[in-house]
Amino acid sequence: MPVMSVIEGAFCRSGPWRSFARRRVLPWALAGHPLSGDVLEIGGGSGAMAAGVARAYPGVRLTVTDVDEAMVASAGERLAPFPQVEVTLADVTNLPFQTARFDAVTSYLMLHHVIDWVDALAEVARVLKPGGALIGYDLTDTRLARAIHRADGSPHRIIAPDELRDGLRVAGFTEITIRPAWRGHLMRFHAHRPGAS
Ligand SMILES: C[S@@+](CC[C@H](N)C(=O)[O-])C[C@H]1O[C@@H](n2cnc3c(N)ncnc32)[C@H](O)[C@@H]1O
Repeated sequence: MPVMSVIEGAFCRSGPWRSFARRRVLPWALAGHPLSGDVLEIGGGSGAMAAGVARAYPGVRLTVTDVDEAMVASAGERLAPFPQVEVTLADVTNLPFQTARFDAVTSYLMLHHVIDWVDALAEVARVLKPGGALIGYDLTDTRLARAIHRADGSPHRIIAPDELRDGLRVAGFTEITIRPAWRGHLMRFHAHRPGAS
């Protein structure tokens, strides 16, 4: 089920974005938090960030999910050379994984496409092991972001940093860090499911 417009979907699959995402955005988004163990990427799109993770962290068992069949097909092709990576169709508000399975969940530029993003955070908390981390970045609620998405026509619900902090608390996360970037147009976030790591 595509949730992005044709334009945004094409952008996500484009070569320039994939290269920029893998080389520049991934290290910035991880902000020095190393990945290890079982890692889930939600809304992984064409697999650009996952390809970077597979190269940089070959010991990570990475599960890449997306709700859009076309994105899953594209990511599946791209990530086929990496046996430690699995690509699966899944809606982040109803993940087909057992409770407390993952050491970390990553979310790159996808939460603002999830109308029920508070439910998504609850699902992410459910599948994280106690002590596991949610790491990612997203757009923030600026005039520019709203204008682009209104013009583009993709369903969206852009999130302000304070709303994200409240949503993470409601979902049970602790040690929440939200750092604005790019003059407040983006935010990086990091939060933990309480318990032993
Ligand atoms: C802007 S793209 C970002 C893709 C990728 N994370 C990247 O950084 O290149 C947002 C992605 O989120 C996916 N998405 C939107 N709603 C979703 C949902 N409810 N569950 C899973 N994926 C979703 C879209 O299909 C799309 O591939």
